[in-house]
Amino acid sequence: MKQHTLLMPLDMHLHLRDGIMLENIASLSAYSFSGAIIMPNLVPPVSTKEELIAYKERILHAVGIEAADDEMEEFSDNGGFEPYMTLFYQNYDEDFLAEVADELTAIKLYPAGITTNSEGGVKNFDIEEMRPTLEAMARLDIPLCVHGETDGFVMDREAEFMNIYESLATNFPDLKIIMEHITTKEAVDMLDKHANLYATITVHHLLISLDDVIGGMMKPHLFCKPIAKRPEDRDALLKVALDAHPKVMFGSDSAPHPQHKKEACGCAAGVFTAPIALQLLCEIFEKAGKLDNLQSFVSDNAQSIYGICPEFKEIILVQEPFKVPETYKGVVPMYAGESIGWSIEDVD
Ligand code: NCD
Ligand code: ZN
Repeated sequence: MKQHTLLMPLDMHLHLRDGIMLENIASLSAYSFSGAIIMPNLVPPVSTKEELIAYKERILHAVGIEAADDEMEEFSDNGGFEPYMTLFYQNYDEDFLAEVADELTAIKLYPAGITTNSEGGVKNFDIEEMRPTLEAMARLDIPLCVHGETDGFVMDREAEFMNIYESLATNFPDLKIIMEHITTKEAVDMLDKHANLYATITVHHLLISLDDVIGGMMKPHLFCKPIAKRPEDRDALLKVALDAHPKVMFGSDSAPHPQHKKEACGCAAGVFTAPIALQLLCEIFEKAGKLDNLQSFVSDNAQSIYGICPEFKEIILVQEPFKVPETYKGVVPMYAGESIGWSIEDVD
């Protein structure tokens, strides 16, 4: 039986929510990942130092790790899990950013109203209005993560956003800009055009196209923002992921919603993949004969791009079918009830 070991997997784009949902799902990520970039789109969004610190404590509590003074005391036997915290982008002043810099890993920018809980995001991308914040972020070495979609026609939103990426990349050459959850070949092409542009890619966008979402019976659990695009877009994503292009990292964008909010008239956007992401990635990379590149895609590239050094964790996966549960505490995962090709055998 084929076996594959991954060291310190990182999920560079994760929604952990808050309250009961956080308590229910956070440990699924903490089990198999060494750390994750935590999205700030709570209600209200995480935008002060106090909120950020308190949210991090709630996450650590939910995964069974308590923060005691500055020391991390561990109660879980799955090894550590580092929540790399983010703030919701607003025009912050440099004094504030300098004060909060040690507590956060990145700032996440949402265009206003483009996705779940993004109403307080950026309304118009006026470079001069954003300049003081973005220049301060560059000086403090705080990366900017961006949800890159316009409010245009849904299939064109990401491609239309490319000129905003260009203008951010050229106006702020010292700012690290991460194009989050890219779904198009246009975004893939941007990677080699600007030294300071990077990207995360989800596992579902490596697997599905729009056809899987609405081509037959409509599949609410595959509905997300940005929507899955054309097969040729998926092929472009697969190419850079499978080659572990050094500017590309895995970010699941696992975005849990309660079942009744997905199976509803007015389906919430988000695909829940956290508990099956590594198994699916093994399957994809193995089928393509590229398993040797998976370590870079799920950890090493992110470590060099963000300059982070996660705690040791070893995940042993085996090529043995895994039946995906119908729900995880009321949240329906991708491929619920179906069998996938790889399982997690052990975590050390
Ligand atoms: C995310 C969510 O539910 O918070 N939804 C999604 O479809 N990806 C928000 C986001 O990342 O766009
Ligand atoms: Zn997201």
